[in-house]
Amino acid sequence: MTPSGFDVRPNANPTASQIRDDILESPGFGQHFSDHMAHVRWTEDAGWHGNEVRPYGPLTLDPAAAVLHYAQEIFEGIKAYRHADGSVWTFRPQKNAERFRRSARRLALPELDDETFIGSLKALLSVDSDWVPTPAHEGEESSLYLRPFMIASESFLGVRPSKEVDYYVIASPAAAYFKGGVAPVSIWLSSHYKRAAPGGTGFAKCGGNYAASLAAQKEAAAQNCSQVAFLDAVENKWVEELGGMNLFFVYKDGRIVTPQLTDTILEGVTRDSILEMAADEGLTPEERAISIDEWREGAASGEITEVFACGTAAVITPVGELVTEDDTIRLAGDTGNPIAKCLRSQLLDLQYGRREDTRGWMTRLA
Ligand SMILES: Cc1ncc(COP(=O)(O)O)c(C=O)c1O
Repeated sequence: MTPSGFDVRPNANPTASQIRDDILESPGFGQHFSDHMAHVRWTEDAGWHGNEVRPYGPLTLDPAAAVLHYAQEIFEGIKAYRHADGSVWTFRPQKNAERFRRSARRLALPELDDETFIGSLKALLSVDSDWVPTPAHEGEESSLYLRPFMIASESFLGVRPSKEVDYYVIASPAAAYFKGGVAPVSIWLSSHYKRAAPGGTGFAKCGGNYAASLAAQKEAAAQNCSQVAFLDAVENKWVEELGGMNLFFVYKDGRIVTPQLTDTILEGVTRDSILEMAADEGLTPEERAISIDEWREGAASGEITEVFACGTAAVITPVGELVTEDDTIRLAGDTGNPIAKCLRSQLLDLQYGRREDTRGWMTRLA
């Protein structure tokens, strides 16, 4: 039993350490998985029960399991970082736990309490901490990406909330998300497809949102763009976010603007952290609506000096250009993205334990 109350069933055939070391040297993203997974089951009658860490492996699901038909599913994304003294830490897990509960409510899934959510990360790391890469040098961003998720597992084809649910956490060693590191990326503006609509599920981290974004992502790839930016579904005018990251705009007078939260935007933990850190850097954070015309005009006039995307996977990545059906929006002056780079290294230094954690944002996992 782990200190966080999970029974442990060890993997009888764990990955050989030589093979694991080879994977950790060049992990890519989301391709390899650690030896165990955490699991908690929920039924309408018994509630949450059966907390365990068990060998990583395929799930047995009845073909009628509700998740396979109606996508009643939510997930999270959070990383474990190894510090220089060998200890393993994660960043603001309370925020992910709270977002997971918000997502659960929207998808009519049972809420998992924050203690069990954070406990499941600790339980998995208590057996799989060897899977957290040790960065070879300061600039290397390797970590263990943790993926908690919850699925409707009842075998029943009626459309109603499932009476049986399973929660798992799997772990995958990860290198930097974009190979170019802080090299600016090109973004495609989806003018046809929408990611989210008022009253819908945009603020929830549910698989369906990502399934719905893939056709636009395919368009982006055809334009040699690595991500998609979405506009609002009502007026087709307001910048919302990317398929998997929030957006920030830096103005030459020191304002740093991000679209305000609505039910069509996912509340990013990185977004929230940047808003809190901005004042320390002498920046004035603003959460408000920003239109595609403001982006276009601000980029042309030099009012906007930087645009960047942010999220757990890619930290902070400058946006070099926005490709639309009509034009390509580029910043008039190439400033070299000093604000994005500064905030990025502040975040990374904190996450990797190279800077004092004055806000109590880090939680030790192992
Ligand atoms: C749609 C979307 N927006 C924003 C984010 C950034 O959120 P976070 O900073 O919590 O990783 C993510 C990634 O989780 C996302 O999928």
